Amino acid sequence: MPDVQATAQPTVTRREEYRAPDWMVPEITLDFDLGAEATRVRATLTVERNGPHDRPLRLDGEGLAPERVLIDGEASDAWRMDGGTLEIALAGERHEIGTEVVIAPERNTQLMGLYASGGILCTQCEAEGFRRITFFPDRPDVLSRYRVTMTADKARYPVLLANGDPVASGDAEDGRHWAKWHDPFPKPSYLFALVAGDLAANRDTFTTRSGRTVDLAIWVRERDLPRTDHALRALKTAMTWDEQTYGREYDLDVFNIVAVDDFNFGAMENKGLNIFNSRYILADPDTATDHDYDGIAGVVAHEYFHNWSGNRVTCRDWFQLSLKEGFTVFRDQSFSADQGSHAVKRIEDVRTLRAAQFPEDAGPLAHPVRPDSYQEISNFYTATIYNKGAELIRMMATILGEEKFRRATDLYFDRFDGTAATCEDFVTCMEEAGEVDLIPFRRWYSQAGTPRVTATVRHEPGSARALVKLSQRVPPTPGQPAKQPMVLPLRLKLFGAETGQELAPEELVLLSDEHAEIAFEGVTERPVLSINRGFSAPVIVETNRTAADLAFLSAHDDDPFARYEAMQQLMLDTLVAGVTHGRADHADVVEAVRHTLADETLDPAFIAEAVLLPSESFVGDQMEVVDPDTIHRARETLRRDLGRMLEGEWRRAYERSRANRFEYSPAAKGARRLKSVALGYIDASGAPDAASLAFVQFEHADNMTDRQGALTTLAGGTSKEWVAALDIFYNRYSDNALVLDKWFSTQALSSRDDAAEQVEELARHRDFTLANPNRARALIGAFSVNQRAFHHPSGRGYRFLADQLIALDKLNPQTAAKLLPPLGRWRRFDQKRARMMREQLQRILATPGLSKDMFEQASKSLE
Ligand code: ARG
Ligand code: ZN
Repeated sequence: MPDVQATAQPTVTRREEYRAPDWMVPEITLDFDLGAEATRVRATLTVERNGPHDRPLRLDGEGLAPERVLIDGEASDAWRMDGGTLEIALAGERHEIGTEVVIAPERNTQLMGLYASGGILCTQCEAEGFRRITFFPDRPDVLSRYRVTMTADKARYPVLLANGDPVASGDAEDGRHWAKWHDPFPKPSYLFALVAGDLAANRDTFTTRSGRTVDLAIWVRERDLPRTDHALRALKTAMTWDEQTYGREYDLDVFNIVAVDDFNFGAMENKGLNIFNSRYILADPDTATDHDYDGIAGVVAHEYFHNWSGNRVTCRDWFQLSLKEGFTVFRDQSFSADQGSHAVKRIEDVRTLRAAQFPEDAGPLAHPVRPDSYQEISNFYTATIYNKGAELIRMMATILGEEKFRRATDLYFDRFDGTAATCEDFVTCMEEAGEVDLIPFRRWYSQAGTPRVTATVRHEPGSARALVKLSQRVPPTPGQPAKQPMVLPLRLKLFGAETGQELAPEELVLLSDEHAEIAFEGVTERPVLSINRGFSAPVIVETNRTAADLAFLSAHDDDPFARYEAMQQLMLDTLVAGVTHGRADHADVVEAVRHTLADETLDPAFIAEAVLLPSESFVGDQMEVVDPDTIHRARETLRRDLGRMLEGEWRRAYERSRANRFEYSPAAKGARRLKSVALGYIDASGAPDAASLAFVQFEHADNMTDRQGALTTLAGGTSKEWVAALDIFYNRYSDNALVLDKWFSTQALSSRDDAAEQVEELARHRDFTLANPNRARALIGAFSVNQRAFHHPSGRGYRFLADQLIALDKLNPQTAAKLLPPLGRWRRFDQKRARMMREQLQRILATPGLSKDMFEQASKSLE
């Protein structure tokens, strides 16, 4: 059970109140007597007074009771508990403090601290889990050298791992054994990790640029070993990439990765011992989709890259979280782009940003990339910190250019190695090495909200001039009613509407005022504006471009992202017209899609992205009041028309990639993606053979991408094929939790009319459990982004979500709180829905013993 919090009096931590630690802990020795029911933890801390003061030593603890406290080797009672904190008055400058506690990993359902997952003992300490293991100043600016000894039953826990390098191991009495590890790099407590379990390793070695040989191992249960090759390959590719791209080498003799099934998020970058959610390690063609493969490579790289951006240089306090996360996401995005198509990767990243971050920035939980306050830091591992944070780094890289950006990151790593730094430190390095002034740019760190840019082009044929008028507005967000203009790097270009010629080379405009005007001379034909090319700034752009202009750009722009974007805008305009007027002219979209499908110079992976309609939620984001049913109808109508009018094209595209054998390469992935999209449109056309086509693909697929693609298509209908496929899928994979998650989420995302009822029933399925975060997210998380189902007019979706969250909060507040934000979007819906959503938020808030995680999310969502 999580601690019952006094929810009426939330404690707020403020960035402005940062103070250096009173005591440093240069050394720590930890001794674990491991057991699932009880683990005894003995800690010895060398503490040093930090500057002149007479304040006591205060060690954070959560749910810990000290069995012994030692001061300089002597048992002492000169301590007291202040809440969970252990306070010790100390006279000298340097002391040795010993503590001893007993914790219960098996009863740890929060999955923070030391816990058990399927018989494996493992840890998760970021952000504040270490205090659930032992008493310690659990803040990222206290860096220590760790020595760890683990003793455990040898049969149950034959493998014992911790951070750093192994030092010694041996057998003990009663079938027990022990291992000692030493991490030579000072690190904050959030990077501590240990693992004990019956694990098998997929091993390899990597030789660094300077000739150091590193032993690599990915540890999983024996039966999962065959599914670890992709992750191991990705790790080595990432290690090479970081040497070549950022000049960063690995620094220990071993690098271990462990996969566990119960994990609150994706993975964790513990020094030398990354711990992963098994969904980001395990893959083979039969059980993982291309999307899973890509996710694995991206997350393996992400955690590896943290060794420098996060571990060697860490964060001074949690307000600086984006210093490591934004930068590391940027690094993993660049890595993934280099493994395949830059254009497709950019499209995917922007789609994620728009689906997750823009709504966050427009809602009650909006916060700056560097927040000013928090109640519970776990609630700030958000799309804003991660994905918008990455966009900030990308903008600085754009402003500096490749060479200076690399000089700036070298300076940053060099200057702050071994320390806990701030976002300000990072920007200062960008300024110094980039020789630029980023004073106004810093507003990106302090102001929340997605800037809106208006861009209009006026042509003066007489003087052969084109005037591009730009203006920007940053909307108000909670606590920030008025904003200053941001610095927006906008890549733009003009094309001639008649000749299709480029009228002027691309320019990088830095819009830093509210308004600006750019003149182009010698413009003799009507210009079409291509703006925010490559999505150079994370903003919403409104233009006065016509459907014809957008269709033109979708066919002729030489920036692939801009081409995609023009098509999306054309589709969006058409869908919004369909929603507002009940009908819309679909001809422009149909012709633009036809043109894209016919363009043989294009990469099929790009085509697949470009011809996909914006999601129902994204259409909703454009509306003053979201009407989920009307949006669904308008989108289905456009899908049907695209399906019907281009049926021959879809069938040809489908046939072209049908015969391929499975291969994990960018080209093969692209072909599979286009095939799935084509199948979806054939189905949307209403063709009588669509369900059987999908079913044949489902049955004969030699990979999960095709199998799940077919299942997703079938999930939209009520055909007998759908029922059969669900059954076959369930029976075939019932012993594979990660694939069963797909079985749940495909149903939760279904566009069927009865999806909400289906989801309620699935929550009673014998394979559903809230105790496993992946399973909870597969059903509840997927359902709440199914706009029409979640916003069912009866309000049953809201009630369902609240019921689940109240139950989950008792087990795992962090995972519960992460799933709450969809209820906070009530302002965007009609009065009746808004009222029902608020009622559920109030019901959550009124729940006795609510966690502070949920309290913060629910109370802010009601404001
Ligand atoms: N640092 C981890 C990463 O690589 C995630 C940790 C998330 N922690 C949390 N409390 N949500 O992104
Ligand atoms: Zn990270």
